[in-house]
Amino acid sequence: MVFPKRDFVSIDDLSNPEILALFTAADEFHGDLRGFATQCSGSILATLFFEASTRTRLSFESAMLRLGGGVISATEGASTSASKGESLADTVRVVGGKYADLIVLRHRDEGAARVAARYAEVPVINAGDGAHEHPTQTLCDLYTLWKEKGKLQGLEVLLAGDLKYSRTIHSLAYALARFGANLVFRPFPGLEIPESVLVRLERDFDASVRRARVGEIKGLGAGKDAIYVTPHMPHQNSLFTRIDDSELDRIDAIYMTRLQRERLEGDEDPTGRRDYPTLAPQQFRGKRFRDTRIMHPLPRVDEISYDFDDDPRALYFRQAALGVPIRMALLAFLLGTLELGVPAQEPEEGVVYRSAVGLRCKNPRCVTNAAAEHYVIPEFRELRSAPPLLRCSFCDWEVEPELTGHAQSRRLHRSNAAEALRILPQRRVYFESEGQAVEAGFGNP
Ligand code: NCD
Repeated sequence: MVFPKRDFVSIDDLSNPEILALFTAADEFHGDLRGFATQCSGSILATLFFEASTRTRLSFESAMLRLGGGVISATEGASTSASKGESLADTVRVVGGKYADLIVLRHRDEGAARVAARYAEVPVINAGDGAHEHPTQTLCDLYTLWKEKGKLQGLEVLLAGDLKYSRTIHSLAYALARFGANLVFRPFPGLEIPESVLVRLERDFDASVRRARVGEIKGLGAGKDAIYVTPHMPHQNSLFTRIDDSELDRIDAIYMTRLQRERLEGDEDPTGRRDYPTLAPQQFRGKRFRDTRIMHPLPRVDEISYDFDDDPRALYFRQAALGVPIRMALLAFLLGTLELGVPAQEPEEGVVYRSAVGLRCKNPRCVTNAAAEHYVIPEFRELRSAPPLLRCSFCDWEVEPELTGHAQSRRLHRSNAAEALRILPQRRVYFESEGQAVEAGFGNP
């Protein structure tokens, strides 16, 4: 194992040089899939999948078996002690104790993989945490695109479909921005990319995000890393027809996603699946689309016509196939049998704020708000101290706490008041409301 252990929870846990070095290693594995059968012999991988999966779990298991290791697997919440009320922390402590040398986890709560990484002794790989991130799918996507195009920098990539709940989109957008690709977001109406993702793209990945309406994006591309297109026609044409009107001079890849039906909430599906777009070869006849690659993490439902499957521009089955060698490279790296010899990712900067009372993450799907994981203490990284701006360490949602209390005097101030700003960071206790502060015993006489 690499010491100290490395986890892969967010795409931001690997540096660009590490990702490129993994591609080189994956090429070697890909060239001789049966030739590395002792690389990880003696090691055991545990796949804990509390949400449905075909490709991710099986390609991880195949990768581990091809490296000569063993695999143990729990695939349904219902068949594990999670259904008896066991916490994620206890599960991974046990599995990562003596059962396995590495854990791959898929879980419905956003930030769950970070919690697992904190409690497991062994490296944890995030195979999808709710709608948050799916960094190993991003490795497959980037690796495939890099092999096809020979580079990532400067590529024009259009991300389309359900951008709100597709975790694959979020991790991919971060990575593409960091490698210097240009992004255009084309959401299905009502399923726009979350604000938390756009903010993080700008803050952590140096992307400059421009917002435009369909029909307005021509000319915005130059010098911009990401264009966020607001759809204004509630039907499928708003996504694609204007592209034919040469809004973009070139599209290197279109990354399509399915409607994440299982995550829709309330009245989020007013239009029904009828209106969700389907990509078909006849939409991509122009010269500008000659080199456009059609990508999809799969499973496909109806978003890409089967007529596309034999088109040389269709990459989705290739993405799935390359999942094995790239995951072999990742497993070998985290188990310490593959050295990358390049600089690792710098640790995140900023003071960490942690408190069992007061401020909570505002994301209802965050693991810190899940009843089963009530032991997880809310934790935030301070992005700005005056006035305070905090980001949840688990799901990355940002929050500006209204009130700041003094841990000893228990006096309460508006967060932007001079008195609040004078409190030393380690003495601050943040609150969202006066009611919350009073409940915790804070207030002014
Ligand atoms: C994706 C996922 O689980 O997020 N699937 C995958 O891992 N290839 C995409 C999806 O389910 O739509």
